Amino acid sequence: MNEDIEKVLIAEEVIERRLDVIAERIRADFAREDSLQVVGILKGALVFMADLLRRVPLRLEIECLNVASYHGGTESSGQVDFLDVKLPEVKGRSVLVLDDILDTGRTLAAVSEKLYEMGARKVKTCVLLTKDKERAAEGEADYSAFEIGDEFVVGYGLDYDGKYRNLPYVGVLKESVIG
Ligand code: XMP
Repeated sequence: MNEDIEKVLIAEEVIERRLDVIAERIRADFAREDSLQVVGILKGALVFMADLLRRVPLRLEIECLNVASYHGGTESSGQVDFLDVKLPEVKGRSVLVLDDILDTGRTLAAVSEKLYEMGARKVKTCVLLTKDKERAAEGEADYSAFEIGDEFVVGYGLDYDGKYRNLPYVGVLKESVIG
């Protein structure tokens, strides 16, 4: 798997150090809340979520949302589909949404809108990566660990065609792999 990577963009140790900082911010911002509902967006947020949330010493409740916007390629489809039969109960609650990357911004915008429609009191968003580009949908993430250029990346939860999510770092694939 590592031989398919052109360059490592963000090394594992760098991610880990940064997660300590983001986790402490989340702890401090939500310390007064009775409990916090976390909603992770599958599957991209899985690795980020597991590593980040174990650093946040609050009474978290954790749910996941299955949302599709990419459909296997390297370009966003522009449409956000909610794939779950049952969505998490968020009425009157503070919700922290976790995703792997803010790209066009459509996913986080659609998920935040949906959670407010379902009665959430407050929705905050947190991403591992923010792509430096113009967004199709308004809004930046409330917490973002790293800003990257407008290039396709894999690893640490992010995939190409379903693969590479388990790389412990964020990297760029060789062109020969994308084909
Ligand atoms: P939007 O455009 O809605 O995108 O902000 C969010 C979702 O698109 C996927 N995405 C990527 N996946 N490498 C990936 O593996 C990338 O560079 C990339 N950019 C966007 C991802 O699923 C994210 O949740």
